[in-house]
Amino acid sequence: MPSVTNNHFSSQEKSAIDRAIAQHSGHPGELLSILEVVQSANPHKYLSLEALRYVAERTGIPPATVYSTATFYSLFNLEPQGDNVICVCRGTACHTRGSRALLERLCLDLGLSEHETGETRDSERIALTTPDHRFTIRTVACFGQCALAPVAEVNHHIFSHVNERILQREVKALTQGRK
Ligand code: FES
Repeated sequence: MPSVTNNHFSSQEKSAIDRAIAQHSGHPGELLSILEVVQSANPHKYLSLEALRYVAERTGIPPATVYSTATFYSLFNLEPQGDNVICVCRGTACHTRGSRALLERLCLDLGLSEHETGETRDSERIALTTPDHRFTIRTVACFGQCALAPVAEVNHHIFSHVNERILQREVKALTQGRK
């Protein structure tokens, strides 16, 4: 597990982890359930390295197993998320219907560069957050709604046959606090 220090690991988070462990320990898929609870309890919806270490320490699960589980599943975030999360599908059906252009436009409008992460290939996931933490832009491999391509998700609300105008309208509404 990398040795990055995070100074924001609070006693509240420790308590949330203790409760999650008490609730799910000994059940099938306990680690996944615990990590889900821990992430949702974090104000920025992510799993810090300190949280992962604490989970390992308290459960007795090897740190490498905890870390590899957190990095394997796309539902887990290892970086703080923005207040609003917009997810653009980059699967084949959505790609052929223009999802790359949608993603590029979104990044441009929010002042984000896909190249910041060095992850520029279509097949790779990206997760970029604006410096003010208002927005996180993510990609997924497929929402499982290919017939409705292109598909995007704004704060867990799915938009099918989405276009630039719709995404810009949503961003504007969120920026102005109308949502
Ligand atoms: S490829 Fe986008 S929903 Fe399947």
